[in-house]
Amino acid sequence: MAATATWERTDAGYTGVEPTADWAREVRRLADERDAVLLAHNYQLPEIQDVAHHTGDSLALSRIAANSSASTIVFCGVHFMAETAKILGPEKTVLIPDARAGCSLADSITADELRAWKAEHPGAVVVSYVNTTAEVKAETDICCTSSNAVDVVRSIPADRDVLFCPDQFLGAHVKRETGRENLHIWAGECHVHAGINGPELADRAAANPDADLFIHPECGCATSALYLAGEGIVAKERVKILSTGDMLTAAKETGARSVLVATEVGMLHQLRRAAPEIDFRAVNDRASCRYMKMITPAALLRCLREGADEVHVPADVADRARASVERMIAIGKPGGGE
Ligand code: 13P
Ligand code: SF4
Repeated sequence: MAATATWERTDAGYTGVEPTADWAREVRRLADERDAVLLAHNYQLPEIQDVAHHTGDSLALSRIAANSSASTIVFCGVHFMAETAKILGPEKTVLIPDARAGCSLADSITADELRAWKAEHPGAVVVSYVNTTAEVKAETDICCTSSNAVDVVRSIPADRDVLFCPDQFLGAHVKRETGRENLHIWAGECHVHAGINGPELADRAAANPDADLFIHPECGCATSALYLAGEGIVAKERVKILSTGDMLTAAKETGARSVLVATEVGMLHQLRRAAPEIDFRAVNDRASCRYMKMITPAALLRCLREGADEVHVPADVADRARASVERMIAIGKPGGGE
C-alpha cells in the first residue's frame, strides 16, 4: 500500500481507504513497527475484527489489555474502553483510531450525578458498568461488564445497599438474577440496545418459532423475552440473556438451526464465523452503533501511521479508578475472546 495513502475526515469518521489485502498487511506491519497489539470489540466492522490480534467482549479485552506485554495498545472500540486500558496500564501508550467514538450509555451519568446519588445512600456499594467515563469509575467501588455483572453483585454482602449504574436494563437483569431488593438502579440506557424493543422481538419470535433467542441484557426487549418464555410463547430454554462473549460460547453449544440475535449488528460477524451452519438473524437490523462504526479502515491506518488519537487519563483520576477496574477483571469466568 502506498505510503502516501490519504484519508478524509468527515463527521461520520475517516473515509477514503478500502479494506483490501494490502491494507490489512500494512496495518499489521505498522502495528509490529509500533510494538502495538490491536484489540477489537465484537461490534466493530468485520474488516476491523478480522485484522485485529484479538476480538472479544469488554471483559476479555480489558483482561488482554491488562496482561499484554506490548508497549502500545490500539483499541478498536469506543472511548471508555480505551480509557479503561489506560487506567490498567498507565505506562503504556493507548491509541484509539478516532477519539470521537463515544457512547450514549457512558454519557448517561456524570461524576457529579453519581456523587449526588451516593450522598442520598450513605454506605452503599457503587457498582458501575464498564461503559462509564474514567471520572465515574473513580467514584465507583467495583466495575462490571455484562458478562460478570451478576457475579460482581453477588460478591457484595447481602445486607449492603448497592447503587447500580448507568444501564437500567442490565440493572433489571441483575436484580432478577440475584433477587436483591436493596439494588438501586440508575435510569440510563444505550440508544442502540434500548431501541431493540419487545413488540419487535415478539413478532420475530412468532415468525421463527424454532429459533433460539440470544439477547444482550442492555436491550429494551430483555424483559419482554422473559415474559414470552413465562407465557409459554417461546420455550424457556430457547431464551438466553447473554453478553456478547457468552453469545459466542452459546452459538458453539446450541443445537438450534436458527438464532435471533438482539444486540448491535456487528456481533453477527463473529457469530457466523463461530458457527457457520446456523442461520443468525438480527432482531433489529438497524441496531448499528455509529460510534463503534467510526473505527473505519481509514481511521485505523491513520492511527497507526500518525500515532493518533492518544488517550490520556489524568493520573489522580486513573489512580482512584484503578481499584474498581481491577476488581472487575478479577471476578467471573473468562470473557469471550480470551
Ligand atoms: P459486552 O461486550 O460486555 O457484552 O458489551 C457490550 C457493549 O455494549 C459494549 O459497548
Ligand atoms: Fe455505547 Fe450502546 Fe454503542 Fe455499546 S452499542 S458503545 S453501549 S452506544
